[in-house]
Amino acid sequence: MQRVLVTGGSRGLGKAAVDEFKRRGWDVVSPSRAELNLASGDSIRNYCEGLAATGRLDALVHSAGVNWPRPLEQTSEDEWQLTLQVNLTAFRQMVQLLAPLLARGRVVALGSILGVVARPNRAAYSASKAGLLGVVRALALDLANQETLINAVCPGYVDTDMTRQNNSEEQLAEIAKSIPLGRLGLPEEISKLVVWLCSLENTYITGQGVLIDGGFTCH
Ligand SMILES: NC(=O)c1ccc[n+]([C@@H]2O[C@H](COP(=O)([O-])OP(=O)(O)OC[C@H]3O[C@@H](n4cnc5c(N)ncnc54)[C@H](OP(=O)(O)O)[C@@H]3O)[C@@H](O)[C@H]2O)c1
Repeated sequence: MQRVLVTGGSRGLGKAAVDEFKRRGWDVVSPSRAELNLASGDSIRNYCEGLAATGRLDALVHSAGVNWPRPLEQTSEDEWQLTLQVNLTAFRQMVQLLAPLLARGRVVALGSILGVVARPNRAAYSASKAGLLGVVRALALDLANQETLINAVCPGYVDTDMTRQNNSEEQLAEIAKSIPLGRLGLPEEISKLVVWLCSLENTYITGQGVLIDGGFTCH
């Protein structure tokens, strides 16, 4: 049985990935925030060292993320740092700590279209997601010699808590109109791609950010 660690598995896209992995017979490790707090380097180190002691890992999915839209003048250093820590730095820390276990394995980080295009009030979030694309490319090179394939899945607007917290009903209706396919994505549509990239069917894609956005970034 293949084994995967999924962060952010309590809700949204992480929960959809957990469900899809389980449907396909994977052994899923999905710690709560109390068990693995990605805001804390110590928590990450303790958790990953504990996991490493229990044996092998075939895949890592980093779905946990935060997005607090703020006008530039209200962006605090604390929120900026926390956004970068949870969305970006935690990913590099986990890959670094778990690299020996992930030999010949797969890694997927949840990026975003906002790592590629911009939207007002989202500088910290965009910085973290654009940074993820750079880290994914660099780590794909660093770990190519141990055949670890590392990619980002970059969704557009998907119907989750995060999207509903950050957009009013009116904004969601406008967003849906601006998407060529005419609707928000569903978490299951994203998780199928995440799980496929983690599967042994993916033998040659590494270092990529795969957009999955209903055509949003085509215009
Ligand atoms: N939804 C979208 O439209 C969309 C679009 C593009 C990219 N994405 C990306 O996809 C990923 C998942 O998004 P989502 O919509 O599923 O988000 P969500 O519904 O807001 O869920 C966020 C997840 O992150 C976890 N988390 C947040 N801070 C954490 C911390 N310090 N330590 C551990 N876990 C933490 C949450 O755990 P708790 O339950 O403990 O809070 C939760 O499981 C994110 O990286 C997001 O940026 C989402």
